[in-house]
Amino acid sequence: MNIPTLPTNAPFSEEQRAWLNGYLASFLPSILSSAASGGATIAEEAVSSSGGGQAVTVAFGSQTGNSEGLAKKLVKKLTASGHSPSLVDMADLSVEGLKEITNLFIITSTYGDGEAPDNAEDFHSTLLASEEKLENVNYSVLALGDSEYPDFCQCGIEIDAKLTELGATRVSPRIDCDVEFDDEFIAWSELLIAQLAQVS
Ligand SMILES: Cc1cc2nc3c(=O)[nH]c(=O)nc-3n(C[C@H](O)[C@H](O)[C@H](O)COP(=O)(O)O)c2cc1C
Repeated sequence: MNIPTLPTNAPFSEEQRAWLNGYLASFLPSILSSAASGGATIAEEAVSSSGGGQAVTVAFGSQTGNSEGLAKKLVKKLTASGHSPSLVDMADLSVEGLKEITNLFIITSTYGDGEAPDNAEDFHSTLLASEEKLENVNYSVLALGDSEYPDFCQCGIEIDAKLTELGATRVSPRIDCDVEFDDEFIAWSELLIAQLAQVS
Protein backbone atom coordinates (compact mmCIF):
# COMPACT_ATOMS: atom_id res chain seq x y z
CA MET A 1 0.00 0.00 0.00
CA ASN A 2 1.25 3.52 -0.84
CA ILE A 3 1.49 5.88 2.09
CA PRO A 4 -0.65 8.95 1.22
CA THR A 5 1.23 12.25 1.11
CA LEU A 6 0.22 15.84 0.46
CA PRO A 7 0.45 16.92 -3.19
CA THR A 8 3.44 19.11 -3.99
CA ASN A 9 1.17 22.00 -4.94
CA ALA A 10 -0.62 22.01 -1.56
CA PRO A 11 -0.37 25.47 0.01
CA PHE A 12 2.29 24.60 2.59
CA SER A 13 5.99 25.31 3.00
CA GLU A 14 8.47 22.40 2.65
CA GLU A 15 8.78 22.25 6.42
CA GLN A 16 5.00 22.23 6.96
CA ARG A 17 4.55 19.57 4.26
CA ALA A 18 7.18 17.32 5.84
CA TRP A 19 5.53 17.65 9.25
CA LEU A 20 2.04 16.96 7.90
CA ASN A 21 3.21 13.97 5.86
CA GLY A 22 4.78 12.48 8.98
CA TYR A 23 1.59 13.16 10.91
CA LEU A 24 -0.56 11.44 8.25
CA ALA A 25 1.79 8.45 8.10
CA SER A 26 1.51 8.01 11.87
CA PHE A 27 -2.17 7.08 11.39
CA LEU A 28 -1.44 4.27 8.97
CA PRO A 29 -0.90 1.45 11.50
CA SER A 30 -4.17 2.26 13.26
CA ILE A 31 -6.08 2.48 9.97
CA LEU A 32 -4.69 -0.88 8.88
CA SER A 33 -5.44 -2.60 12.17
CA SER A 34 -8.94 -1.13 12.18
CA ALA A 35 -9.57 -2.30 8.62
CA ALA A 36 -8.32 -5.77 9.55
CA SER A 37 -10.56 -6.03 12.60
CA GLY A 38 -13.50 -4.10 11.18
CA GLY A 39 -13.93 -2.35 14.52
CA ALA A 40 -14.73 1.35 14.96
CA THR A 41 -13.85 1.19 18.65
CA ILE A 42 -10.34 -0.01 17.91
CA ALA A 43 -9.92 2.77 15.34
CA GLU A 44 -10.99 5.36 17.91
CA GLU A 45 -8.58 4.06 20.52
CA ALA A 46 -5.74 3.90 18.01
CA VAL A 47 -6.25 7.50 16.91
CA SER A 48 -6.41 8.56 20.49
CA SER A 49 -3.11 6.92 21.37
CA SER A 50 -1.14 7.65 18.21
CA GLY A 51 -2.20 11.12 17.15
CA GLY A 52 -2.84 12.79 20.49
CA GLY A 53 -6.48 13.30 19.46
CA GLN A 54 -9.50 12.11 21.40
CA ALA A 55 -12.36 9.80 20.46
CA VAL A 56 -15.52 11.88 20.80
CA THR A 57 -19.20 11.03 20.40
CA VAL A 58 -21.33 13.90 19.09
CA ALA A 59 -25.02 13.07 19.61
CA PHE A 60 -27.95 15.12 18.36
CA GLY A 61 -31.62 15.34 19.24
CA SER A 62 -33.33 17.25 16.48
CA GLN A 63 -36.83 17.71 15.09
CA THR A 64 -36.28 20.11 12.20
CA GLY A 65 -32.54 19.84 11.65
CA ASN A 66 -31.00 22.71 13.63
CA SER A 67 -29.26 20.53 16.22
CA GLU A 68 -28.30 18.00 13.59
CA GLY A 69 -26.71 20.74 11.48
CA LEU A 70 -24.70 22.03 14.45
CA ALA A 71 -23.63 18.49 15.35
CA LYS A 72 -22.26 18.03 11.84
CA LYS A 73 -20.39 21.32 12.13
CA LEU A 74 -18.93 20.21 15.44
CA VAL A 75 -17.76 16.94 13.90
CA LYS A 76 -15.94 18.92 11.19
CA LYS A 77 -14.30 21.19 13.75
CA LEU A 78 -13.21 18.26 15.91
CA THR A 79 -11.76 16.46 12.91
CA ALA A 80 -9.88 19.60 11.87
CA SER A 81 -8.49 19.77 15.41
CA GLY A 82 -7.04 16.25 15.14
CA HIS A 83 -9.75 14.40 17.07
CA SER A 84 -11.78 11.38 16.06
CA PRO A 85 -15.49 12.24 16.33
CA SER A 86 -18.46 9.94 15.69
CA LEU A 87 -21.78 11.52 14.77
CA VAL A 88 -24.69 9.73 16.47
CA ASP A 89 -28.43 10.25 16.02
CA MET A 90 -29.86 10.08 19.55
CA ALA A 91 -32.31 7.47 18.28
CA ASP A 92 -29.26 5.20 18.06
CA LEU A 93 -27.76 6.14 21.44
CA SER A 94 -28.44 3.76 24.32
CA VAL A 95 -28.07 4.67 27.95
CA GLU A 96 -26.34 1.33 28.57
CA GLY A 97 -23.84 2.20 25.83
CA LEU A 98 -22.83 5.46 27.52
CA LYS A 99 -20.47 3.55 29.81
CA GLU A 100 -18.24 2.88 26.80
CA ILE A 101 -18.01 6.58 25.86
CA THR A 102 -15.30 8.85 27.25
CA ASN A 103 -16.23 12.14 25.61
CA LEU A 104 -19.91 12.79 24.93
CA PHE A 105 -21.09 16.07 23.45
CA ILE A 106 -24.85 16.41 23.12
CA ILE A 107 -26.75 18.96 21.06
CA THR A 108 -30.50 18.75 21.53
CA SER A 109 -33.55 20.88 20.98
CA THR A 110 -36.80 20.89 22.99
CA TYR A 111 -40.17 20.24 21.37
CA GLY A 112 -43.87 20.10 22.23
CA ASP A 113 -44.32 21.48 25.73
CA GLY A 114 -40.80 21.08 27.08
CA GLU A 115 -40.38 17.61 25.58
CA ALA A 116 -37.61 15.84 23.72
CA PRO A 117 -37.59 15.88 19.91
CA ASP A 118 -38.92 12.61 18.47
CA ASN A 119 -35.52 11.06 17.78
CA ALA A 120 -34.38 11.69 21.36
CA GLU A 121 -37.57 10.62 23.16
CA ASP A 122 -36.49 7.08 24.06
CA PHE A 123 -32.99 8.10 25.13
CA HIS A 124 -34.35 10.99 27.20
CA SER A 125 -36.96 8.95 29.05
CA THR A 126 -34.61 5.99 29.62
CA LEU A 127 -31.85 8.26 30.87
CA LEU A 128 -34.12 10.08 33.29
CA ALA A 129 -35.22 6.73 34.78
CA SER A 130 -31.68 5.33 34.86
CA GLU A 131 -29.42 4.61 37.81
CA GLU A 132 -26.45 3.69 35.61
CA LYS A 133 -23.14 4.91 37.01
CA LEU A 134 -21.36 7.06 34.41
CA GLU A 135 -18.21 8.17 36.24
CA ASN A 136 -16.01 7.66 33.17
CA VAL A 137 -18.04 9.95 30.92
CA ASN A 138 -16.93 13.52 30.20
CA TYR A 139 -19.74 15.47 28.65
CA SER A 140 -21.26 18.79 27.74
CA VAL A 141 -24.69 19.82 26.45
CA LEU A 142 -25.71 22.51 23.99
CA ALA A 143 -29.46 23.05 24.39
CA LEU A 144 -31.51 24.60 21.59
CA GLY A 145 -34.88 26.17 22.23
CA ASP A 146 -37.03 29.25 21.97
CA SER A 147 -37.50 31.56 24.94
CA GLU A 148 -41.10 32.21 23.81
CA TYR A 149 -41.90 28.78 25.28
CA PRO A 150 -42.37 28.45 29.04
CA ASP A 151 -40.12 25.35 29.26
CA PHE A 152 -37.15 26.97 27.59
CA CYS A 153 -34.52 24.36 26.60
CA GLN A 154 -36.08 21.87 29.03
CA CYS A 155 -34.86 18.71 27.29
CA GLY A 156 -31.21 19.84 27.32
CA ILE A 157 -31.54 21.02 30.91
CA GLU A 158 -32.89 17.64 32.05
CA ILE A 159 -30.26 15.61 30.20
CA ASP A 160 -27.48 17.79 31.58
CA ALA A 161 -28.75 17.52 35.18
CA LYS A 162 -29.25 13.75 34.95
CA LEU A 163 -25.78 13.08 33.53
CA THR A 164 -24.26 14.93 36.47
CA GLU A 165 -26.51 13.01 38.89
CA LEU A 166 -25.22 9.73 37.41
CA GLY A 167 -21.63 10.76 38.06
CA ALA A 168 -20.56 12.00 34.63
CA THR A 169 -18.22 15.00 34.54
CA ARG A 170 -19.45 18.19 32.91
CA VAL A 171 -16.34 19.47 31.13
CA SER A 172 -17.87 22.77 30.13
CA PRO A 173 -21.12 24.47 31.12
CA ARG A 174 -24.35 23.83 29.27
CA ILE A 175 -25.33 26.70 27.02
CA ASP A 176 -29.03 27.36 26.43
CA CYS A 177 -29.56 28.82 22.97
CA ASP A 178 -32.47 30.90 21.76
CA VAL A 179 -33.55 31.05 18.12
CA GLU A 180 -30.26 32.71 17.14
CA PHE A 181 -27.63 30.18 18.16
CA ASP A 182 -24.58 30.65 15.93
CA ASP A 183 -22.50 32.67 18.40
CA GLU A 184 -23.35 30.35 21.29
CA PHE A 185 -22.42 27.33 19.20
CA ILE A 186 -19.04 28.85 18.34
CA ALA A 187 -18.33 29.72 21.98
CA TRP A 188 -19.39 26.27 23.22
CA SER A 189 -17.48 24.33 20.58
CA GLU A 190 -14.30 26.39 20.96
CA LEU A 191 -14.32 25.78 24.69
CA LEU A 192 -14.77 22.03 24.20
CA ILE A 193 -11.89 21.88 21.76
CA ALA A 194 -9.69 23.84 24.16
CA GLN A 195 -10.64 21.41 26.97
CA LEU A 196 -9.82 18.40 24.80
CA ALA A 197 -6.42 19.87 23.92
CA GLN A 198 -5.58 20.03 27.64
CA VAL A 199 -6.16 16.32 28.18
CA SER A 200 -4.71 15.05 24.85
C1 LIG B 1 -44.04 22.97 17.85
C2 LIG B 1 -42.78 23.48 18.52
C3 LIG B 1 -42.64 23.31 19.88
C4 LIG B 1 -41.51 23.81 20.55
N1 LIG B 1 -41.41 23.67 21.91
C5 LIG B 1 -40.37 24.24 22.56
C6 LIG B 1 -40.28 24.21 23.99
O1 LIG B 1 -41.13 23.67 24.69
N2 LIG B 1 -39.20 24.78 24.59
C7 LIG B 1 -38.22 25.40 23.87
O2 LIG B 1 -37.28 25.92 24.46
N3 LIG B 1 -38.27 25.44 22.50
C8 LIG B 1 -39.30 24.89 21.83
N4 LIG B 1 -39.36 24.94 20.47
C9 LIG B 1 -38.25 25.59 19.71
C10 LIG B 1 -37.21 24.60 19.16
O3 LIG B 1 -36.55 23.92 20.18
C11 LIG B 1 -36.18 25.42 18.34
O4 LIG B 1 -36.82 25.91 17.18
C12 LIG B 1 -34.96 24.62 17.95
O5 LIG B 1 -34.01 25.46 17.32
C13 LIG B 1 -35.29 23.47 17.02
O6 LIG B 1 -34.13 22.71 16.79
P1 LIG B 1 -34.19 21.32 15.93
O7 LIG B 1 -34.45 21.74 14.51
O8 LIG B 1 -32.85 20.73 16.10
O9 LIG B 1 -35.26 20.50 16.50
C14 LIG B 1 -40.48 24.46 19.81
C15 LIG B 1 -40.65 24.61 18.42
C16 LIG B 1 -41.77 24.14 17.79
C17 LIG B 1 -41.92 24.35 16.30
